[in-house]
Amino acid sequence: MVQNEVSRSTIQKGKSALLRYTGLIWFSFAMIGQLIFVAFILRFYGSSIATGNFVAWNDRPLITGYVAGDFFGNLMFAIHMLLAVVITLGGLAQIIPYIRQRYTRFHRWNGRLFIITAYIMAFGGLWMTWGRGSHLSVISAISVSLNGILIIVFATLALRFAMKRRFDLHQQWAVSTFLVVNGVWFFRVAIMGWMLINQSPRWMNNTLSGAADIALSFGSYLVPLAAYYLYRFAKSRSSQSLRIFTSIVILLLTLFMIVGIVGATLFMWFPSS
Ligand code: HEM
Repeated sequence: MVQNEVSRSTIQKGKSALLRYTGLIWFSFAMIGQLIFVAFILRFYGSSIATGNFVAWNDRPLITGYVAGDFFGNLMFAIHMLLAVVITLGGLAQIIPYIRQRYTRFHRWNGRLFIITAYIMAFGGLWMTWGRGSHLSVISAISVSLNGILIIVFATLALRFAMKRRFDLHQQWAVSTFLVVNGVWFFRVAIMGWMLINQSPRWMNNTLSGAADIALSFGSYLVPLAAYYLYRFAKSRSSQSLRIFTSIVILLLTLFMIVGIVGATLFMWFPSS
């Protein structure tokens, strides 16, 4: 009887370990990819902002970028770039359990900074998209705007539940915020993953309104969210097949993400020529 209990709990631990390791594998690769993204922003935008060489922004295939005489628009763009570094690094630091558990004071302050930055990025991004007109098509503007709105809603929920000391719900909404904040990163990675796998920009066009553009842009935040909620659901159930299925789904998404990270690094962020 006791032996049965022991072996059952060992199996139970083994089952949750499977999901834990899958999550860890996903996060490790995501972290590497996001650090490469930060390195790109610092190298390209950080150096041009620090030296006042704003015209250099337009060396990239931006939608609007630098416009002579548009002081406010250029300022908003510069703030967006600098805060992109803060939010990406801050998000990673919030998620790493070691930092969260050992440095609770840092976690609280960094959490406040992360949420304020998320609001500024989302509202600023919405203004750039619609106010400044930086969009290639209405559908791509709607997609990134929904991403921005989800950032605002989830960040507010994460903050509210932290203040109410409902840490279970806080964690759920904090991870959801982390995922939607990284929507723009996932989008770039997904575009490159898709193009590398197809060896062409299949079903894509110059206005981000092809079938693949639309699927990838909405999917860049909806798929990670769906995977996270599947992960939570599988964790809360005792079904081993559900956990195995969830792990396979997450590992396949991780594989796609790795291809995308390699593509984005080589062709988007650090092209050789
Ligand atoms: C919160 C996380 C976000 C990060 C880390 C981020 C990061 C960036 C980066 C690095 C760029 C430069 C693009 C490049 O060089 O390829 C950019 C551009 C842009 N972002 Fe964001 N962004 C975020 C959220 C948003 C949101 C939510 C919106 C809209 C609602 C938005 C709207 C824009 C627009 C319109 C541009 C292009 C500006 C232009 O081409 O002139 N961003 N973003």
